[in-house]
Amino acid sequence: MPEQTVVTDLSDPQARRALVQGIEATPGVAKPDPILTVDNIVRRFGGMTAVDVDHLEVQRGIITALIGPNGAGKTTFFNLITGFDQATSAKTMFHRPAKAAHWSFNGQSLDNTSASAVSRAGMVRTFQLTKALSRMTVLDNMMLGARGQRGEQLLFSWLQPLWGRQERQNTAKALELLDRFQLLEKKNDYAGSLSGGQRKLLEMARALMTDPTMIMLDEPMAGVNPALTQSLLRHIQDLRDEGMTVLFVEHDMHMVRHISDWVVVMAEGRVVAEGESQVVMADQAVIDAYLGAHHDTDLGDDSLLEDEALQQLAREVAEEEAGDDK
Ligand SMILES: Nc1ncnc2c1ncn2[C@@H]1O[C@H](COP(=O)(O)OP(=O)(O)O)[C@@H](O)[C@H]1O
Ligand SMILES: [Mg+2]
Repeated sequence: MPEQTVVTDLSDPQARRALVQGIEATPGVAKPDPILTVDNIVRRFGGMTAVDVDHLEVQRGIITALIGPNGAGKTTFFNLITGFDQATSAKTMFHRPAKAAHWSFNGQSLDNTSASAVSRAGMVRTFQLTKALSRMTVLDNMMLGARGQRGEQLLFSWLQPLWGRQERQNTAKALELLDRFQLLEKKNDYAGSLSGGQRKLLEMARALMTDPTMIMLDEPMAGVNPALTQSLLRHIQDLRDEGMTVLFVEHDMHMVRHISDWVVVMAEGRVVAEGESQVVMADQAVIDAYLGAHHDTDLGDDSLLEDEALQQLAREVAEEEAGDDK
């Protein structure tokens, strides 16, 4: 049968549902149009295996949530595929794994490549603990997004006229993004003066400086106060509506339920379940395992914010349970 070219309106929930409907809910299942494909990626810390993923595909154009208890390996997995950490299998000469690690994005191999090469390929990520530089202004943080992720441009900085133009384009783009994320008024403030939620917005805005094809968000809601939650959710949905693929790690079950099309569950480094959001989120075993393991928070400097987020989550769960009884 000839391939059909179907133009999907990704802002339409039915159309997105159709993209994943009928895909078997099996760990490592093949997707119709994967943008990211990962094989045999292993990361050990000493004797402990933090990540051991046999196979995972991320479907293009939808929002995929990666959930799992603390310590499941979600952040390490993000670090590996975005070039911020190196897979053990490729590094350890004398401990040869049976199969070599391999992952590709948009048809391009990214095996153990650098973070800047990954971002050039169109995949950017944000961090669980925000990496905004406190003693730099909001605007300078944005400009760093353009340069930091496209480091090679600095090599050509002697091409002043060209560089100057690039710099002006970057500034215009930074201001546009700050406006979009309601941070324009703060452009000359130090990033350190922003609230936790505003720092998350800044980090997201900064990631967009490189016009990514896919954005990976590590706990975008952690430490975000309820007043900003809705706008963050809206921003993520807008990115998806514009055709960006989103992969996010999140503890907030409300958010996962609300915006994800597909859910992948990790535990002890492995993908233990995946499926349509509605199906996985209705699986009581998944939710119990997940919320049960939720109490051992592992964060240092953001622990206060994390506590607030946990309290908020607990309140929301209680409210929902009360609502269900009606
Ligand atoms: N740099 C590191 N050195 C040693 N152990 C680490 C390091 N980073 C993560 N780990 C361990 O790897 C496991 C997975 O951690 P992580 O990827 O942060 O999990 P998650 O993001 O799912 O909470 C944890 O047991 C954690 O303690
Ligand atoms: Mg993490």
